[in-house]
Amino acid sequence: MRNVLEFVAGNQDRYLARLFEILRIPSVSADPARAGEVRRAGQWVADFLGGAGFEHVSLMETGGHPAVYGDWLHAPGTPTILVYGHYDVQPEDPIDKWTILTTPFEPMVKDGQIWGRGTSDDKAQFLTHLFALEAWKKVHGRLPCNVKVFIEGEEEGGSGGTHDFVQAHKDLLACDAVALSDTSWYSPEQPTIVYSLRGISYFQVDVKGPNRDLHSGVYGGMVRNPLNAIAAIIAGLHDAHGRVTVPGFYDDVLELTDMEKAEFRKVAVPDEERMKDLGVAALAGEDGYTALERNWGRPCLDVHGIWGGFAGEGSKTVIASEGGFKFSCRLVANQDPAKVAQLFQEHLPRMAPPGVTVTVKYHHGGTPVMVPVDSAYLKAGADAMEAAFGRRPVLVREGASIPITAVFLEALDAPSIMVGYGLDSDNIHGPDEHFPLVNFRKGIDAGVHLYEAFGRMGKPGGAA
Ligand code: BES
Ligand code: MN
Ligand code: MN
Repeated sequence: MRNVLEFVAGNQDRYLARLFEILRIPSVSADPARAGEVRRAGQWVADFLGGAGFEHVSLMETGGHPAVYGDWLHAPGTPTILVYGHYDVQPEDPIDKWTILTTPFEPMVKDGQIWGRGTSDDKAQFLTHLFALEAWKKVHGRLPCNVKVFIEGEEEGGSGGTHDFVQAHKDLLACDAVALSDTSWYSPEQPTIVYSLRGISYFQVDVKGPNRDLHSGVYGGMVRNPLNAIAAIIAGLHDAHGRVTVPGFYDDVLELTDMEKAEFRKVAVPDEERMKDLGVAALAGEDGYTALERNWGRPCLDVHGIWGGFAGEGSKTVIASEGGFKFSCRLVANQDPAKVAQLFQEHLPRMAPPGVTVTVKYHHGGTPVMVPVDSAYLKAGADAMEAAFGRRPVLVREGASIPITAVFLEALDAPSIMVGYGLDSDNIHGPDEHFPLVNFRKGIDAGVHLYEAFGRMGKPGGAA
């Protein structure tokens, strides 16, 4: 292994140059106009895998954006690990809020950070695995365990086609565990493994009123204003206790146990510290729970955007004929995204005041996920992180979602080992996204240790 780590140490410039190549491809999965760029990024990953010695490398058509597959399965008596990541990224807007780069897709290193859209989420992170595996292959001509690589291109859009692909190709993707880096650390100095993610149901609501835009003096006071109605609907989605009002929403929610709450308390950051970090005078959420309990173990609802009418310079007296908003619910065990979707599709139109019509579109969903904290795979992950970063990782939950991890668990019976290297301060999804250069470097070292540790485990249920 020392030779492999030395190889890695000697290849840092090349790693950064390769990373920059894929960072320059604006693989924004949400933008249909960039479908070609998304595919180009997928092809970049496929070409990399081919060069690294993987076999059966191909772009797999999913119905949505393609996923990249490649494998190397010549390590009998070792487990098969599926390496997962996503090469798609979030839209870069609002572009005028990027302060470091001239464009979010022209990356650079500054102040110890790699700047650019997709650095932390998820290009630099998944590449740590691929560089580590390439190093094993280049130095020893083989990998320490069996590896299948599966890097998707539509995670940021809910992974619809990719989920179907996994369900339909269980044999191709069969594995003992999934390894991925797409999460962040609990604090900047504290390596972290995530064992639980929330699920999600994402919606768009369109509200239609009069058949045309109206003069607000000529018609104001006699017609329902769709934007006033949107405000009322959104306000009505929570009660005074911060609970979601939609009937049935909490029916399947598994209450946190006292033991879980005690575990959360051990790692909780004081509210004051969080308020200071976020620049707010108060935290908010469901009454009766701490901030961490609400973020890790309770469902919630957030509006992401509201549109309609006049929001330009100056003033315009208008009653817009239509408007809308997007929102999502984060879900916890045992909520089912499709069932939650049905609740909202039934209930939201009933919240429409007379004079407007409300249509609800369910965009996508993901099931909450929790993996066993006592598995040998997770221990391998913790050992690898400790070896590379010099500090034992903590095990925590996460409020965000990686929906495909639930599909891996359900369809492949494979737990996801979430060894991520991002920081909450990386601004993923926002302007000035960045990723610590040192985590990129040590993340590759961690990958070298990780696959070696998997190799040492022996085949589960078989002779080692
Ligand atoms: N990598 C993130 C999820 C994440 C972020 C995990 C921070 C842990 C810490 C992922 O790419 C993501 O953004 N997921 C979406 C899922 C959605 C688009 C279905 C999310 O959580 O909003
Ligand atoms: Mn991600
Ligand atoms: Mn993301």
